[in-house]
Amino acid sequence: MAKKGPLGKGERAVYPGSFDPITNGHVDIILRGARLFPRILIAVLENPKKATLFPVRERVAIIRDIFKNQPRIKVESFHGLLADFARASGVGVVIRGLRAVSDFEYEFQMALMNQQLNPDLETLFMMPSARYTFLSSSLVKEVYALGGSVRGLVPPSVERKLGEKFPGKSESLSS
Ligand code: PNS
Repeated sequence: MAKKGPLGKGERAVYPGSFDPITNGHVDIILRGARLFPRILIAVLENPKKATLFPVRERVAIIRDIFKNQPRIKVESFHGLLADFARASGVGVVIRGLRAVSDFEYEFQMALMNQQLNPDLETLFMMPSARYTFLSSSLVKEVYALGGSVRGLVPPSVERKLGEKFPGKSESLSS
């Protein structure tokens, strides 16, 4: 049985991910989370073993800029185990988005492993708006790199950053 209730006054929830790059599906979950928790900590994974399009500092900067007017939403990078990062940050809840049944198995495994590693950590699954259920960072990168439009699927700043990474593929934001 869990030792203590994770929710207290001013409770923070951590929303971890690679965010390479952040999509409107992520933003949707963050805003939903911010309706349930007074403070949300977005934790951006720094994994030197995994090649990313955007280095961790850039991913953090992009997300900080998106939420710059929302003081209840903070962004930090982390490396190592999420269970340890949550403990060190004094956070008792992890938010994860579930888009489809196909996400479930991996998420279920991860939630149980995190529970094993840190019994004080609860995982809360949230559904994004149905219009983002097909969306992933990998698809966004693939579509953009091949010249397709990702407008409305990522924040405008991310679209601009993708334009810098894939010169010649970007659409004018004013078109
Ligand atoms: O970008 P993703 O796939 O949504 O994020 C996955 C993430 C970052 C939440 C997961 O890979 C993670 O927590 N990594 C940190 C290392 C860790 O704790 N591994 C054990 C997970 S049970």
